[in-house]
Amino acid sequence: MKNFTSVKDIPSIEEALQVAKEVKENPYGFKELGDNKTMILIFFNSSLRTRLSTQKAAMNLGMNTMVLNVNQDGWKLESELGVVMDGDKPEHLREAIPVIGSYCDLIGVRAFASLEDKSSDYQEKIIQQFIDYAGVPVVSMEAATRHPLQSYADLITIEEHKKVDRPKVVLTWAPHPRALPQAVANSFVEWMKETDYELVVTHPKGYELADSFMEGVTVEYDQKKAFEGADFIYAKNWSAYHDYGQVLSKDRSWCVDQEKMALTNDAKFMHCLPVRRNMIVSDSVIDSENAIVIDQAANREVSAQAVIKMILEDQ
Ligand code: CP
Repeated sequence: MKNFTSVKDIPSIEEALQVAKEVKENPYGFKELGDNKTMILIFFNSSLRTRLSTQKAAMNLGMNTMVLNVNQDGWKLESELGVVMDGDKPEHLREAIPVIGSYCDLIGVRAFASLEDKSSDYQEKIIQQFIDYAGVPVVSMEAATRHPLQSYADLITIEEHKKVDRPKVVLTWAPHPRALPQAVANSFVEWMKETDYELVVTHPKGYELADSFMEGVTVEYDQKKAFEGADFIYAKNWSAYHDYGQVLSKDRSWCVDQEKMALTNDAKFMHCLPVRRNMIVSDSVIDSENAIVIDQAANREVSAQAVIKMILEDQ
C-alpha cells in the first residue's frame, strides 16, 4: 500500500480483516517494521480518537511520532495555488508539505471539508497536495469526503459482533445543531458496499448523499421502516450534499431511541464519536449493553496499526 485515503487502497476486505486480526492479537509483534522511522500527524481540525489511536498504533509498530496542530502550533497554511498571499497565512502548503516530508517516513493528515466549496472539497484538494508533494506515503485521518480509518474500524467491529453471516446494517441520519461534513457517512457506505451485508440508508428528504457513493444503495425515507429487522444501527449526522453544507432539519424525532431500537433484531448501536446525547441518540440507547461505540473507538487503534503496517511492509 502506498497511500491510504479510501477503501480502494486496501488489497481486499478479507485481507484487511486478516491484517487487523494479526495486529489485534499481537500488537507489539511487528516493532521492527518501524525501527528508526518517524510518522508525523498533521491536524487541521480537532480530534480525540484519531490523534491518540493513530499515534499509539505507530508507536506499537516501533515508530517515532510527532504531532502538529496546524493553525495552533504552526504557521497558518495557504492551500490555494495562484493567490497573492497578503492575508493571515504566511506559508503555502506547496513548501510546507515537502518540508514535513523531509522529516519523516509517513504522514497522517486530518483536513475536514470546508462545507463552502463543494467542488474543492470533493476534489480533496488538501490531501491530494500532500500525496503530490510529500515524497512519503500519506494516510487520511479524515479528509473532506471520507474517513477511511473510521470505516475500517467500523467493519472490524461489525465482524466481531455480527450474529449472522449477512447482517442488515442501517445508516441513519440523526439531528445535530451544526453543519457536519458527509465524510463519515460517505466512507461508511463505501466500505459497506465492499461487503455482502444488506445496507440501508435512511435520512430526511434533502439529505441525499453524492451519487458517486450511493449508486446501488437502498434508501428508505421512513426511519422506522428502515430499522425493522436491523442487526446494526449506525447513527450519524451530516449536512446536505446538494444544498451544500446546509442544515435543512434539526428534527429531534430522528433521534435514535429505545422505541425505534425495539423495531430491530436486537441491533447493536454504533456511532463514530464524539456524539451529542439526546440529539443523535438517547441516553438509554447509548448506555445500553447493545451500544458498541467504545469497541468501535478501541478498534481505531487496530485499523490504524493495520494500515501503517501494510504501508511499512511496502516501503
Ligand atoms: N471518530 C473520530 O474520528 O473521532 P475524533 O474526531 O475524536 O478523532
